[in-house]
Amino acid sequence: MEKKDLDWGNLGFAYMPTSYSYVCNYKDGAWEEGGLTADHTITLSECAGILHYCQEIFEGLKAYTTENGDIVCFRPDLNATRMADSAERLVMPPFPEDKFVEAVKMVVEANKEWVPPYGSGATLYVRPFMFASGEVIGVKPASEYQFRILVTPVGPYFKGGDTAITVTIADYDRAAPRGTGNIKAGLNYAMSLYPYEQAHKNGFAENIYLDSATHTYVEETGGANVLLVDKNGALVVPKSPTILPSITRRSLMVVAKDYLGMEVIERPVKFEEITNGDFVECGLCGTAAVISPVGHIKAEGVDVTFPDGAEHSGPVMAKLRQTLTDIQACKIEGPEGWVCKIC
Ligand code: PLP
Ligand code: COI
Repeated sequence: MEKKDLDWGNLGFAYMPTSYSYVCNYKDGAWEEGGLTADHTITLSECAGILHYCQEIFEGLKAYTTENGDIVCFRPDLNATRMADSAERLVMPPFPEDKFVEAVKMVVEANKEWVPPYGSGATLYVRPFMFASGEVIGVKPASEYQFRILVTPVGPYFKGGDTAITVTIADYDRAAPRGTGNIKAGLNYAMSLYPYEQAHKNGFAENIYLDSATHTYVEETGGANVLLVDKNGALVVPKSPTILPSITRRSLMVVAKDYLGMEVIERPVKFEEITNGDFVECGLCGTAAVISPVGHIKAEGVDVTFPDGAEHSGPVMAKLRQTLTDIQACKIEGPEGWVCKIC
């Protein structure tokens, strides 16, 4: 099998159509069989629910080539479960979880020449998504849906590799208490675009959002969870019912504890603790970001430097990233079921 002739080492985080997508429709109360399509466009009624009331959810995972040439992905079963949770909250029919994993395998295998070679630093980003295709005009859930998976080869989400980024504190809120912050719905990202553009204009890579109710606790960024290392070397993970349960973060908590013997503390974290200088390292984690080191947080009246990771990943973030990526590349053995072989 010939790989596509791409400049794998210089890919950005951008979309390019590949050979196939996966598509499956929900109609008359049931999911159809589903299968591959070479058509990367979608034709919809002008009255489709997605266009009016924003019933849309998505997932993100990566497929990549291991050292021995296998194509694998990482914990797709957790994406399947999280997507079913997202569906429930937006009154959409959950896509069956085993069918989700089969669909991921099918579409990645069909696009195997687009899976970047081992060691290139690039991966095949897999984006399952589901939206209301049925017509609705009154505010109610649609009765027809489409589930799709597109795949596209990508490079790093944050430019500059291991260079620490500077983030700011958003002037806007991301997730209301008892809202939709804990699911992966497009609507959460639509409202983050304005503050994201503001942050960029002001020279920051991202926004950290504080809790909407009190603006005192650290939540997450628009597309990644936050990791902190305290002065005792413990991994501290902000806990909140309104952040997305990141699969990368949950995996890193296991890696930190079971592979690196670290203390892991998941608890509400006051922003004041960060400004007081209680943490020595900070990182953003997610499928797209993996772990991106945060060197500074700057906002009005706020100027924080993380002393052990001001320019590049600090020692703990670097070790966490290395161990996780080694597990993903099958260089070291991960917990049972983490690496899912596709072909
Ligand atoms: N938080 C948000 C808001 C995200 O969009 C993502 C990306 O998926 C994450 C966190 C990280 O989650 P995961 O590690 O499952 O990709
Ligand atoms: C991911 O990490 O997979 C995401 O979905 C984050 C971002 C690209 C929205």
